[in-house]
Amino acid sequence: MLSDKVSIHGAWASRWVFILAATGSAVGLGNIWKFPYMTGMYGGGAFVMMYLVCIFLIGLPIMLAETLIGRRGRQSPINSLKTLAVESGAAPRWSWAALMGMLAALLILSFYSVVAGWSLDYIVNMGRGQFAGVSAEGAGGAFATLTADPWRLVLWHTLFMLLTGFVIARGVVAGLERSLRIMMPLLFVLLLVLLGYSMTTGYFMQGFHFLFDFQPGKLLDGMLAAMGHAFFTLSVGVGSIMVYGAYMPRNASIGSTVLAVGILDTLVALTAGLALFPIVFAAGLDVGEGPGLMFVTLPVAFGNVAFGQVMGTLFFILVLVAAWTSSISMLEPMVAYLVERTRLSRAWVTAGLAFICWFVGLGTVFSFNLWKQAKFFVNEGGVFHLYQWDAASGLTFFGVIDFLTSRIMLPLGCLAFVVFAGWVMGRETVRDELAMGNARLFAVTFFLMRYVAPLGILIVFAAQLWA
Ligand code: PHE
Repeated sequence: MLSDKVSIHGAWASRWVFILAATGSAVGLGNIWKFPYMTGMYGGGAFVMMYLVCIFLIGLPIMLAETLIGRRGRQSPINSLKTLAVESGAAPRWSWAALMGMLAALLILSFYSVVAGWSLDYIVNMGRGQFAGVSAEGAGGAFATLTADPWRLVLWHTLFMLLTGFVIARGVVAGLERSLRIMMPLLFVLLLVLLGYSMTTGYFMQGFHFLFDFQPGKLLDGMLAAMGHAFFTLSVGVGSIMVYGAYMPRNASIGSTVLAVGILDTLVALTAGLALFPIVFAAGLDVGEGPGLMFVTLPVAFGNVAFGQVMGTLFFILVLVAAWTSSISMLEPMVAYLVERTRLSRAWVTAGLAFICWFVGLGTVFSFNLWKQAKFFVNEGGVFHLYQWDAASGLTFFGVIDFLTSRIMLPLGCLAFVVFAGWVMGRETVRDELAMGNARLFAVTFFLMRYVAPLGILIVFAAQLWA
């Protein structure tokens, strides 16, 4: 049987290592940086509600689908899909979905590395005590100064890409385990410390209501944004979870593993939100601040508490590690594919791909300074322009890449993977691979994979077109 083979790229020592690696992939800037700022931009509770529904009803079945496709295929996403399609008598063309996903992962990495670079800068400045006693304006000013300086951003972006490439080149399976075992729990502990601080601001309940009060009227506004982010935060739709699934031991139970990863990821995001928003309100910052939200909020908190300098520095180090373990999982699928496909070594493949992502990432760097006024998809009074300099609306280069990946490529990738598992591989194969003891539990799970997840994605797309 196919799934008894071991992947040529290595294998996790146990199911726990898979949980660590998948959690390392899932927990990242998406939880700590992106989730809070998107919640702020889309008005709070309605967005959070939609996000949670998407995680548990759509995202987790997809994660399950990806893991089992990977584990059964035992290769890079493209070759796993190809092999399994042939095994089920379907067209090998299914592998194109994996190709699109892997390209999306590289596009995500291009901007992810830039933002992770911001954390590098913050580690240095926190460590130097630059934020001691800082005011909200001061923190806003520091962030503006950083993002206005393209070469400082390029420096950090380059460094982060090198860090990512370094681990990939040496092989993921060997490199990840040790760092994850210490760093992930520590990140969580520090988030709890931050949460404790936000409880002392006097604005905790305001933050709580902002996150969890649910206004039905707003539900439609951010639907696609919420679904796209649910996929982003779980690392699904791009092949990252699939490639990690390929390194998973045969005898591990997939269902509970995936559930654990999903719950951990959600907990980190909600804790980050609960910790950040009270600080935002207490300091009089704008919830709709956008991508800078975390970077202006945290210095205000750490700058004004005892041991803030040490804790703040540690916090940004952990954010960096969380981002690092995510970015590794973005690069790995394509690296695995090219190692299978070509005669190039892992190191060369990694260097080439990292360079391409780095180069595309320059566009994101410049979106915050030199090309700030360059706007795409501008809608001015009903007239549509593909590109315009200095328009009031429209997306920057970073905005375009983010939109293209989270709202279009990820949902499409997810749709293809879950339809593949639910319809092409079919009930018996999935049952065999999941090996769930409880028949009713399997029936519910399979129903989610076969009907709820694909229809959910289509409905959200359709609703967004109407809205
Ligand atoms: N899930 C990661 C995060 O939340 C981002 C990611 C997306 C990782 C896609 C891998 C693939 O930060």
